[in-house]
Amino acid sequence: MKLPARGRAGGKVILLGEHAVVYGRPALAAGLRLGLTVELVAASGPARLESDATPAGDARPLEVLRRTAAAVGLPADGFVARVRSELPAGAGLGSSAALAVALLRALATAAGRPLGRGDELRLGRELEAVFHGTPSGIDPAAAALGRCFTFVRGEPPVVTPLRPAAPLPLVIGLSGRPRSTGTAVLALRARWEADRARHEALFDRIGTVVEAGARALAAGDLAALGRAMDENQALLAEAGVSAPEVERLVAAARRAGAAGAKLTGGGAGGAVIALGPDPARIAAALEAAGARALRAEIGGMVEEAA
Ligand code: PMV
Repeated sequence: MKLPARGRAGGKVILLGEHAVVYGRPALAAGLRLGLTVELVAASGPARLESDATPAGDARPLEVLRRTAAAVGLPADGFVARVRSELPAGAGLGSSAALAVALLRALATAAGRPLGRGDELRLGRELEAVFHGTPSGIDPAAAALGRCFTFVRGEPPVVTPLRPAAPLPLVIGLSGRPRSTGTAVLALRARWEADRARHEALFDRIGTVVEAGARALAAGDLAALGRAMDENQALLAEAGVSAPEVERLVAAARRAGAAGAKLTGGGAGGAVIALGPDPARIAAALEAAGARALRAEIGGMVEEAA
């Protein structure tokens, strides 16, 4: 085992298609430059994890560490994994998947067995399931890819990288309200069970919006991408996964001239995403509305202020 070793992976934002992606429709997501680094250092005894990003008493990160070591053929022994995260935890920015993929990269390097993209996607998905049960797999795909892509769940998922024809002036607003993606996903499942036809029709409409948004992104048509975001937000509200905080932040972003704004991730009052043209003005409006605003720098492209 070659130590020290290092691994890094980024967070993500879902631009379009969350929730419907669980029901087989496409989603559009982007890997963030903001991410998480794991440093493996030699230490005696069973492997440990030192992290300021995970709450004390949460046994899952250590379980992911053990499984990752096993996946690359190393004993979970003789090292400590130090985690440094720039991603706010529990905000829907994919910090658990970034941890899984960064650990995987660090341990694969320590094992002298760098992994290919396909292995990263497959193992990242298995490892993220330790945190979230049966997620669609979009978060580990973003962590592994670190750029824009469309995603359709499946065994294996269909992951198609996309290159935006223009920089994306994106702003994330974090309401800070505690949220649970799992609860939102289960509540939607119960409503779908009660009225499948209505929800399937909603998911179909979301799928159509995602396809239009992906075409707009590839063509650099930010106005059309913004329209797709607004339409997606209306459909998410119809599906019952928006929340008063989200609606308030989305309205603030639109008043600040956003081309489009919507919730991102599980919803339930967590995070919103807004598209320029003026990210500084949108960020100020989101902060004035009580959110923490972050510029979402997308990996794999040269980002410029609008
Ligand atoms: O809350 P997040 O960012 O982990 O995103 C969840 C996205 C969902 O579509 C709601 C669930 C999933 O597994 O894809």
